[in-house]
Amino acid sequence: MTADPQHLLAALRARRSLGPRGLADPAPPPEVLQQAAELALRAPDHLALRPVRFVHVGRDERTALGELFARVALDQGRDAEGVAIARERALTGPTLLAVVARIRDDVPDVPPHEQWLTVGAAVMNLLHALHLQGYGAKVLGGSPARHEIVRRAFCHAGEQLACWVIAGTAAGDPLPPATERPPRDLLTDWTPPAD
Ligand SMILES: Cc1cc2nc3c(=O)[nH]c(=O)nc-3n(C[C@H](O)[C@H](O)[C@H](O)COP(=O)(O)O)c2cc1C
Repeated sequence: MTADPQHLLAALRARRSLGPRGLADPAPPPEVLQQAAELALRAPDHLALRPVRFVHVGRDERTALGELFARVALDQGRDAEGVAIARERALTGPTLLAVVARIRDDVPDVPPHEQWLTVGAAVMNLLHALHLQGYGAKVLGGSPARHEIVRRAFCHAGEQLACWVIAGTAAGDPLPPATERPPRDLLTDWTPPAD
């Protein structure tokens, strides 16, 4: 990867999310994940509250996660097929990270929305670090992430599971670059109010 700014910008612009079906082995190795997590820390962070951390779910732990997802599905009243699908979800994606957020409400100078901005920026930095090293990834949510059974398995007191990131190597041809046109009001000049 060249350090030419235009090449870097073009590379970042070409990033597309790759879901479970678009990802295959090899998974990003531990050093790539570590580097990506450290780049995530470079997100703007008012008063350095560090509202985000990442938890890697290893291959050997996927079955245990599947059992948690199955318990969530049972708790949500899913039938046997729904429970089986929930269990399978824990196995998707060569690499799985939980994004854990700690949003404080006792820091008057840093309201929750500022801390959430840091979480989002950190995840974006993580995706970019993976992308620039040739790995695909996707941010996923879903109701199990918000369920108390899963929250307790990943989070300390005061934390919540914000989302998941799955990552791996693109399984097929690269997705075409996104073609949407930027909205007209994406970047405008401010004019002071008349009164
Ligand atoms: C917090 C969060 C949760 C998301 N959850 C899902 C999800 O559960 N399923 C999904 O298909 N996309 C989800 N997305 C959207 C994808 O990550 C991605 O942004 C979208 O597919 C657009 O793809 P692109 O990055 O190639 O433009 C989520 C995005 C965010 C920020």
